[in-house]
Amino acid sequence: ITGAVLESLDSPSPFAESRPIRIRELELDAPGPHEVLVRIEAAGVCHSDLSVLTGVRPRAVPLLLGHEAAGIVEALGAEVDDLAVGQRVVMTFLPRCGHCASCASDGRTPCENGSAANGAGRLLDGAKRIHVGAEVIDHHLGVSAFADHAVVDRRSIVPVGDDVPPQVAALMGCAVLTGGGAVLNAARLQPGETLIVVGLGGVGMAALLVGLAVEGARVIGVDANPDKLAQARALGAHETYGPAEAVEAGVKAPAVVEAVGRAVAFETALALTAPGGRTVTVGLPAPDDLASVSPLALVSTGRTIIGSYLGSSIPARDIPIFVDLWRRGLLPVESLVSSEIHLGEINEAMDSLARGESIRQIIVP
Ligand code: APR
Ligand code: ZN
Ligand code: ZN
Repeated sequence: ITGAVLESLDSPSPFAESRPIRIRELELDAPGPHEVLVRIEAAGVCHSDLSVLTGVRPRAVPLLLGHEAAGIVEALGAEVDDLAVGQRVVMTFLPRCGHCASCASDGRTPCENGSAANGAGRLLDGAKRIHVGAEVIDHHLGVSAFADHAVVDRRSIVPVGDDVPPQVAALMGCAVLTGGGAVLNAARLQPGETLIVVGLGGVGMAALLVGLAVEGARVIGVDANPDKLAQARALGAHETYGPAEAVEAGVKAPAVVEAVGRAVAFETALALTAPGGRTVTVGLPAPDDLASVSPLALVSTGRTIIGSYLGSSIPARDIPIFVDLWRRGLLPVESLVSSEIHLGEINEAMDSLARGESIRQIIVP
């Protein structure tokens, strides 16, 4: 196979101008008993991939990036009996093992075994299936989709209908599940309520679209980049503000979702949360990026802070819900695609993402 491998973290910078990702010919093993071989049709470039190469999300290298994707099943492991070759599937970036304490929860706590496997660059059963001779390449979040094929655990994928185009299916796996799940599962936005989304990249724009799909809801977009505010209004946001502008204007809502991945944006989200409201944080800042919170201000206003990984979702339960909204014309996921690119343009794509220019760039074959 051909894949985009991050080989070194020597010069972490907000930009990829050093061209740290190399397109390489790789060997991909056959799927193990609980695994599936997928031909990748579309893969989104998400900030969590960029955060690996800037060192914000520390990972071992070499690593095959890409965790938001869709494709066609080409081969099934011996014990996979609930999928068929030729079926379209969505990759999701946290497999649920199905038997740990967290998997017994409603999706609020990330699967313990899935998180451990992701942290170790392995598939859920512990294998690493990508190599070049003796050199072993780590998997990224159990997916590694910046390639023409991937071997993934059955529990890392959710089948979707053939009517869902590859680009839409890909975005379901991270942007929609994370942003949309934050709105529906974590913030539990009610009909007629107001939602503020802080950070309007792929994840935040998906949160905005899902908010707009809730009956009678008002949605306010907040981003440091004025271009993103214009794009949010084009997608249907009722109002938009820069972060300082929103705080100064005293804008507040009962449901606020932070989708930036910086502590300063979490502080903005907190400041925009109305008395009695919920602040949901989904961004992934560096471990040492800390926010300042006044406990007194929380107590005296009765507010709640909720951390949400993968939109507090159970992918097999929630992706069909988002697909159904898309089928009914209530969730125009296509509008999140800013460009289609090829694998060889991955370093430039990371630069564009770092400059905040794009919502979702989609890699297609
Ligand atoms: N306040 C408001 N918006 C900001 C700020 C800030 N201080 N700083 C940056 N932004 C905006 C950027 O302009 C951009 O539009 O946040 C947005 C982030 O979007 P992307 O880079 O496209 O990130 P995305 O892929 O959506 O991921 C967002 O969720 O899954 C995590 O790791 C991911 O932490 C990241 C977050
Ligand atoms: Zn992502
Ligand atoms: Zn589990």
